[in-house]
Amino acid sequence: MSTTLRVAIVGAGIGAEHLKAYLALPDLYRVVSIADLDRQRAAPLVAAAGADYDDSLQAVLAREDVDVVDICLPPQLHKEAVLGALACGRHVICEKPLTGSLAQCDEIMAAAAASTGQVMPVFQYRFGQGLGQLRRLIDTGLAGRPFVATVETHWNRDANYYAVPWRGRWDTELGGAIVGHAIHAHDLLVHTLGPIVAVQAQLATRVNQIDVEDCAAFIIGMGNGALVTSSVTLGSARDQSRLRFCFENLSAQSSLDPYNPGTSPWTFQARDPFEQSRIDSALADYPAHQEGFARQFELAHAALTEGTPLPVTLADARASLELITAAYSSHATGERVRLPLNADHPGYAGWVP
Ligand SMILES: NC(=O)c1ccc[n+]([C@@H]2O[C@H](COP(=O)([O-])OP(=O)(O)OC[C@H]3O[C@@H](n4cnc5c(N)ncnc54)[C@H](O)[C@@H]3O)[C@@H](O)[C@H]2O)c1
Repeated sequence: MSTTLRVAIVGAGIGAEHLKAYLALPDLYRVVSIADLDRQRAAPLVAAAGADYDDSLQAVLAREDVDVVDICLPPQLHKEAVLGALACGRHVICEKPLTGSLAQCDEIMAAAAASTGQVMPVFQYRFGQGLGQLRRLIDTGLAGRPFVATVETHWNRDANYYAVPWRGRWDTELGGAIVGHAIHAHDLLVHTLGPIVAVQAQLATRVNQIDVEDCAAFIIGMGNGALVTSSVTLGSARDQSRLRFCFENLSAQSSLDPYNPGTSPWTFQARDPFEQSRIDSALADYPAHQEGFARQFELAHAALTEGTPLPVTLADARASLELITAAYSSHATGERVRLPLNADHPGYAGWVP
């Protein structure tokens, strides 16, 4: 019999999708509170969960029946919310971007190390079946050495999307398409090919009348020698994400699902056609599993109750912030930035102008 973790969801926007995932895992989680400044926005979630309404994070932290605080607030509020929950010894789940700088991320890492609570950043795109199949082909050695990859985050966002006051601004969204949108595909890249060692990036605001970038082009060098390009826009005719990897023995291409490119179907094509059957048979018994938030939360439950590794760690969030820091720095200087980045890098305290 597993321990049911009691959750408070703070922020009822994407928090609604988190709630669906918890409701799909009724033996693992019970949502006891939905907190939002806007009571009306919280109301459908309160009803669906059979939970209480709270009007603030402070009210949530004053409760004694909350094991996990799930932060779905606008980005500029993440850091203080995470630190506040950790100070109360609660486990924390926090939406992307975790923070607005490497320095803030390191502050959270230090606070987590000193707390009984653990922090899990959200990167739910990792848990698609197709991406899992690629990881199996890599782990078994069938894929071989990676040569190149391309990453596309081609989404469509217009003035309606930017009508939400916190979006499109440095002080509240903490950046543009590389912070809020491409962060997912870039996490998949690092998750698949390992650490980045060099970044060159050019950014532009071409689609919407906003303060932050909505287009970007990256050249990325991976520690294993693979070369990667990433293209980002919020002015695509339709929403589409795509990852394509060329390995020594096979090429892999993701689904085009914008918000779950890790899902099936992926194509895995052997370079030597006579080897195709080895790839196909290696995947024949790949088990079906939940995807997205539900899979991440399912694995998190095991981590928080049985001590298995968290499915997404603060180090993963830090890697995503390191790429963002490097990209803004490269754009500003026109130079290639070498990673890892530490406290001596000029962008360590933040990229927000
Ligand atoms: N993982 C994903 O796929 C994904 C998708 C969308 C958004 N997000 C992230 O989730 C976060 C929230 O984004 P969103 O689209 O849900 O935003 P949103 O504006 O739709 O929702 C945020 C909610 O927080 C509430 N709120 C704001 N300040 C508050 C406070 N001090 N106390 C209590 N409630 C407060 C607002 O009333 C609002 O209902 C952002 O960090 C965003 O980047 C992640």
